[in-house]
Amino acid sequence: MGTRFILNGVPQDVTEAPTVTLLDWLRETRGLTGTKEGCNEGDCGACTVMVTDENGARALNACILFLPQLEGKAVRTVEGIAGPDGALHPVQQAMIDHHGSQCGFCTPGFVVSMAVAHLNGARDFDNQLAGNLCRCTGYAPIIRAAEAAADAPVPDWMDDAGALEEVAGPVPPYAPETADALAEWYAANPDGTLVAGATDVGLWVTKGLRDLAPVAFLNNCTDLKGITVTDDTIRIGAMTTLTDLLPVMAERHPSFAELIRRYGSVQVRNAATVGGNIANGSPIGDSPPALIALGATLHLRHGDARREMPLEDFFLDYGKQDRAPGEFVEAVSVPVQPDRLRCYKISKRFDQDISALCGCFNLTVTDGIVTGARIAFGGMAGIPKRAAAVEAALLGKPWTLDTVTAALPRFAEDFTPLSDMRASSGYRLRTAQGLLIRYFHDISGAPASVLEVAP
Ligand SMILES: Cc1cc2nc3c(=O)[nH]c(=O)nc-3n(C[C@H](O)[C@H](O)[C@H](O)COP(=O)(O)OP(=O)(O)OC[C@H]3O[C@@H](n4cnc5c(N)ncnc54)[C@H](O)[C@@H]3O)c2cc1C
Ligand code: FES
Ligand code: FES
Repeated sequence: MGTRFILNGVPQDVTEAPTVTLLDWLRETRGLTGTKEGCNEGDCGACTVMVTDENGARALNACILFLPQLEGKAVRTVEGIAGPDGALHPVQQAMIDHHGSQCGFCTPGFVVSMAVAHLNGARDFDNQLAGNLCRCTGYAPIIRAAEAAADAPVPDWMDDAGALEEVAGPVPPYAPETADALAEWYAANPDGTLVAGATDVGLWVTKGLRDLAPVAFLNNCTDLKGITVTDDTIRIGAMTTLTDLLPVMAERHPSFAELIRRYGSVQVRNAATVGGNIANGSPIGDSPPALIALGATLHLRHGDARREMPLEDFFLDYGKQDRAPGEFVEAVSVPVQPDRLRCYKISKRFDQDISALCGCFNLTVTDGIVTGARIAFGGMAGIPKRAAAVEAALLGKPWTLDTVTAALPRFAEDFTPLSDMRASSGYRLRTAQGLLIRYFHDISGAPASVLEVAP
């Protein structure tokens, strides 16, 4: 039994090895070379394809998308964006009219991203196209083309949702459909590799040339997806994508939502999962500091046994997490609370850049006194980590600039940051201190936006 999906309207049943990427398969076995290989690591968007499932259409990077991740879905490549009779899609015509293509290597990826945005009625084009890089046009003609096409009707041929039932049915053993089935598989294969969104694992294959076998794909485990909100708790399933987390956080913790908006690109956020962003143990993952600052609890599962812990306790040391072989992340939950969270991502580039550091602050002030403090940083240590000495220096003190200033030296007790290509140790330490001052002003009603220079 292979992976079944629809490609440009035609059902497929593919039996290639599970770690063949969609990009390689399209180009090498189907001759669909319109989908380009630029970076082969999710950064440039030249390989963007449209993937439709029961939740709608989204743009994904084919270079870090394995074939089993397409199970039961429909894929449309740039060759399927024009109509069957060769009629151009409105975004293609607009790219011609507005001179949106010069050397053209990036163009197929742009056209697919634009067609998905057009289908979904999205108008935030800077955001929609932040994951597509172009060296030639300076972007203005491309944005003009996207704007010009926005009001045109969606062509009939772009509707893939109606055809999905043609590829519904049994799935291969490496694609469990429930958390129970995954738990059983992983307990029996504790050395196996779990693939969630593959925005990390994809690179192990395309850049590291690693053999992942045995491998299990989590994308069919519907009970690991989604967010449940009760009076007390927001429970986020491990397979929830960053795209799906964003609107929920926008309602409750807008600063977290803004952090997510700067996480990778649309294509990356459409694939990357919260569980993967935690389980990979990265010291520069963006969601762990925000979740830790919110007081998150991590839910782990091994077979039928479940345990939970404060999220910060999961990260033991660089590359080492409190997770046994065969144990996986089932969910993470945060308490419902008033919003005092602010997240600050510091990176060299505003869009689609890994954080040099990411500071998340969540203080409670009662009658002018600091009665609760949760401050967590990424990029300041080998793991996402709380600033315990800074928190202690603030607790029980009046919430004033003097208290904040007095707490600043304590950062050096909490962190001995590295110098690397993203930032020096001294820069990281000084910036972390500056972010606490920024939080003070921000929460006191003087927010600072890095995109605006106040007169
Ligand atoms: C172009 C690009 C830009 C990026 N930008 C950012 C960014 O701005 N901020 C950021 O934080 N990250 C960024 N990343 C990194 C990456 O997107 C994240 O780490 C992502 O959250 C990983 O999630 P995933 O679902 O893709 O995980 P995968 O790649 O599928 O898995 C990652 C690891 O977690 C394990 N795993 C996955 N799910 C589970 C589970 N439920 N239980 C146990 N183990 C599990 C896998 O086995 C693997 O070891 C970027 C990556 C790319 C390619
Ligand atoms: S080839 Fe660059 S994102 Fe896929
Ligand atoms: S037109 Fe040349 S890279 Fe975009």
